[in-house]
Amino acid sequence: MTNAYIRGTGSYAPKNIVKNAFFEKVGSSDKWIYENLGIKERRISTGETTSDLAYQAGKAAIKDAGLTPTDIDLIVLATATADRLAPSCACFVQEKLKATNAVAFDISAVCSGALFAISTAVQYIKSGMYKNVLVIGADTFSTITDWSRRDAVFFGDGAGAIVISETTEDKGFIDFILHTDGSGKDHFTVPAGGSEKPATNTTIENGEHYFQMNGPAVYQTAIDVVPKCINKILTKNERTIDEVKCLLPHQPSIKILKEVAKRVDLPFDKVKTNMDRYANTSGGTIPIILDETLKNDKFEKGDLLLFAAVGAGWTWGTALYKW
Ligand SMILES: CC(C)(COP(=O)(O)OP(=O)(O)OC[C@H]1O[C@@H](n2cnc3c(N)ncnc32)[C@H](O)[C@@H]1OP(=O)(O)O)[C@@H](O)C(=O)NCCC(=O)NCCS
Repeated sequence: MTNAYIRGTGSYAPKNIVKNAFFEKVGSSDKWIYENLGIKERRISTGETTSDLAYQAGKAAIKDAGLTPTDIDLIVLATATADRLAPSCACFVQEKLKATNAVAFDISAVCSGALFAISTAVQYIKSGMYKNVLVIGADTFSTITDWSRRDAVFFGDGAGAIVISETTEDKGFIDFILHTDGSGKDHFTVPAGGSEKPATNTTIENGEHYFQMNGPAVYQTAIDVVPKCINKILTKNERTIDEVKCLLPHQPSIKILKEVAKRVDLPFDKVKTNMDRYANTSGGTIPIILDETLKNDKFEKGDLLLFAAVGAGWTWGTALYKW
């Protein structure tokens, strides 16, 4: 039986660090940001595009996997901040990597994008169509942030990448549960610049090319749907939360993750976080935290890893991985 396993990982973030104190001038504070969101600082691009970040992360993951770019059959890139509306950001990355044998396309599921991209990669591998898939989650939310508003505190720029390859060994991704509820589409959105409201002088003057977020709705949705989805995947696969070695979640805020952990009875020291250094890098969060975890922790054969994400749309999901 063909399984799909994590063969290599990489990550990259711009060098420019923006600390919480920067946001005092827009009515926020280091104390509020750290206590509510768990963020101390974030990386903000000073000109690097999403595909530049994705390229660096992808290159590192391919090297970590012991492969070369021409070994990659498919690049699936999760982003909400592609370099251009067309073509896909994945095309830019394919060219930069010189991954000349790879098919490449983007996935749009905002903060759940990387999990949706991983699930896509795994289906291609399990069907036998491709052997080595490069999944990248990359975003530069700094380009859709209104820096004069206090909700500029939430996001940072960054990218993570995972090479997922075929194996006949008893390891890899066991299951995914994914959900979408489009009735939530107005709670996190970039209103203008698409076909519904093409960019005009007026949309620019109104700041409609910046993201708009209903923070309380994000919070309530996240703490409701993510625990249910974790319980669902564990029950479906006849596993218990005690068997989970660690949770590798999207990084929306420390308060959300603490409440999720509480609701599923997972000790918080099993929850991997890095929002203190990167904030929420949207598509980047899960592959970045995975890369950091695999470089710091050692897992034993059979260990169970849990992934969880929630984002705009609404979109959300979980995945189980057997080491
Ligand atoms: C943003 C969030 C912390 C706001 O908390 P809330 O209690 O739900 O909502 P409120 O708007 O009533 O804000 C509570 C307090 O925080 C303050 N506040 C909100 N945003 C702030 C900011 N950026 N900086 C400083 N203070 C802020 C408000 O002024 C309010 O203060 P008050 O009690 O003195 O009036 C919370 O909704 C949240 O964490 N949402 C999730 C957002 C998220 O994760 N987004 C990522 C997208 S995946």
